[in-house]
Amino acid sequence: MAKKEKKVNPLWGGRFESGTNNLAQSFSASINTDKRLFEADIKGSIAYAEILKNAKLISSTELGKIKKGLNKILGEIRQDNFDWDPALEDVHMNIESRLVKVAGVAAKKIHTGRSRNDQVATDLRLFLMEKTNNIQNLLCLLQECILEKAEQNVESLMPGLTHLQIAQPVTFGHHLMAWYEMLLRDYYRLEDAKQRMSVMPLGSAALSGTRFNIDRKLLAKKLGFKEISRNSMDAVSDRDFVLELASALSIVGIHLSRICEEIIIWTSSQYNYVNLADEVCTGSSIMPQKKNPDMAELIRGGSSKTIANLIGLLSLMKNLPLTYNRDLQEDKEYIFNSIDFTEDSLALLSLVIDGMEPNIEKMKQDCFTGQITATDLADYLVEKNMPFRQAHEVVGKIVAHAESKDMQIFELDLSELKKFSKIIEQDVAGYLNPEKTVLSRRQTGGTSPSQVRKEINIARRDLSKRKS
Ligand code: ARG
Repeated sequence: MAKKEKKVNPLWGGRFESGTNNLAQSFSASINTDKRLFEADIKGSIAYAEILKNAKLISSTELGKIKKGLNKILGEIRQDNFDWDPALEDVHMNIESRLVKVAGVAAKKIHTGRSRNDQVATDLRLFLMEKTNNIQNLLCLLQECILEKAEQNVESLMPGLTHLQIAQPVTFGHHLMAWYEMLLRDYYRLEDAKQRMSVMPLGSAALSGTRFNIDRKLLAKKLGFKEISRNSMDAVSDRDFVLELASALSIVGIHLSRICEEIIIWTSSQYNYVNLADEVCTGSSIMPQKKNPDMAELIRGGSSKTIANLIGLLSLMKNLPLTYNRDLQEDKEYIFNSIDFTEDSLALLSLVIDGMEPNIEKMKQDCFTGQITATDLADYLVEKNMPFRQAHEVVGKIVAHAESKDMQIFELDLSELKKFSKIIEQDVAGYLNPEKTVLSRRQTGGTSPSQVRKEINIARRDLSKRKS
């Protein structure tokens, strides 16, 4: 099948007699995926050229030509005026080939002491560091939307659920602030992942390091890396930073999915706890009355991609011997997909939450069902010196009695309650009304409006420090 007449790759074809088979060529080309690395690749090459000049491996004139050429290429790509050639495999060789055309022979020195193995590892780290910053900013924006809604609903009563069953009264603000906390952990997980991303592999060359007198520390500083890699074999084959980001993003993904799941439940006609803005809903092609929470469903459904991408990356890495193997080229599709999904969903969910109108009346109404203050009644007995286990038993009986009469415990007369325990007095009323009992959860982490207000203030200060 190989065609002898086919041109060999000008960047590595020295030892080859014939060009690559067509299928092999298209199979190995990664340009459609990795061209997104062009900014990082050019930034890396400019800094590398400066270091080559410091090491006297190129002259100032050559450096000038290379820089001018790379900036010209940057402009061409940004303006979508660049001819990407799949025959040149990837972003690195496309840019280098073009550089030879625009900068002449000087360009042929840019790859001195460098391999695509350390180049791609460096480019990917630079790209992912920037994307991670962007995702962190989007997380902050979403948190801001949540804070705003929470602030407006510090006092709005809603049933808190366990097992999706009515459990105890909470405030809607408290529920929303739970989302804030989930996203806060995501923010710091990403911050942590950035530490290990910020290590520069450049100077590792193909696998063994370089003989040239390249100032790696200065190069790292120019590129914004905190550290330089300390083992060339590890540096060109390590993709832990991709795995860690994919893992952090899959946790973001499941958080967004869980938040969306709640929004979907709340919008159902049975719950009717919130209304969503028209701009994030869609209708049905047959049922004229429908207004469906499709964006929330698509975030919930789409988040499974972040899990699949993590599993894909782990499977990709698990059998790779040191050092570089071409398998590594496959890493980008997975991580880019997780990044794209996360960026879009964070922005979209901000829109959804921003336009989400709570139905405060319905939520409150439901707080008067489900024997919601049964635990408070047990607490009441405990405050009157009854051991908790005994109080639990007594209240269980009261609940069964109320249910047999199709009533709520707060609807029972004092005389009826007294049949179960003589220590129950008039003051029990304050322990049966959900509007009152919610005020009692004043400990740090609790749902009382005063406590939630405190947490919102702390969150506001923290958010303004984190936001860039
Ligand atoms: N496109 C390749 C990748 O993304 C670049 C490195 C190629 N190195 C090699 N030795 N063939 O991994």
